[in-house]
Amino acid sequence: MQFEPNWHPEGALCERALRERLPGLEPVDWMIVGGSGIGKPLVDQAGEHALGLVIQHEIPLAELGLPAPSVAGHGSSLVFGELPAADGHARVRVCVQTGRIHPYEGHPASLATAPLGAVLSLGVKRLLLTCAVGGINPDLRVGTIVSLRDQIGLFGPTPLRGAAFVDCSDIYSAKLRAQLQAQVQAGAEAVPEVVYAHARGPQYETPAEVAALRLLGGDVVGMSTTYEAMLAAAHRTPTCGLGVVTNAAGSEALSHLEVQEESARARSRLSALVRALLRAHVE
Ligand code: HPA
Repeated sequence: MQFEPNWHPEGALCERALRERLPGLEPVDWMIVGGSGIGKPLVDQAGEHALGLVIQHEIPLAELGLPAPSVAGHGSSLVFGELPAADGHARVRVCVQTGRIHPYEGHPASLATAPLGAVLSLGVKRLLLTCAVGGINPDLRVGTIVSLRDQIGLFGPTPLRGAAFVDCSDIYSAKLRAQLQAQVQAGAEAVPEVVYAHARGPQYETPAEVAALRLLGGDVVGMSTTYEAMLAAAHRTPTCGLGVVTNAAGSEALSHLEVQEESARARSRLSALVRALLRAHVE
């Protein structure tokens, strides 16, 4: 569907800035939003964690009038590139947002999602949101890659304004989730489907908050992702989400360093899955 600028004026403004900087930009097949320690390495040009994108443009978010992400492990640009046609696969046009701006950095969710709004307005077929998460469900070991099945964003921010009464019943597309499961290599560790509970942060959750989120049905907790999924749902763009469980939620002595280290450990496994997903034919 057409982008709705009244619901998300920041996206419309950001798209205008993007088109001024890069006239002739084409719609993309996939947009990937990179979480802590995840986004930047995906666009590396070497290493087994690299997606293998042929990069066409890289534009700093600051040049689109946006604040630069301030959190370690987050990049600060939009990268446009493609996986070239190969082995019977058509080329895949991809945009990677290498890092996020978060509401806990003091920005409204509407501004934090401006790059996504711009790309939704430009035209994008599918969206992959990535994130580091704390595990609430005790069955989730640190290092597990999870696929988001649903979310609890009731208490968190929304990027939407106005009468945006949006259907969120398939907020993480069942079709894309099935496609993801089909890409999990035989013999590789399972990628469990989970409910993502949003916590605004920046402070980590107390044990009582983790217990409350578990009672509500959350399997993992994170400080991002939900508001992007809402914006994509508003524009009926099929979305999936991959998280890396970097810690047990509410655990003692938790630090952002630990989160970054654990997400780095999962990097190659995660990017193999992302590469397979991008190449899979989904219509
Ligand atoms: N809580 C919230 N966000 C997170 C966590 C956590 O424990 N780990 C990584 N992101």
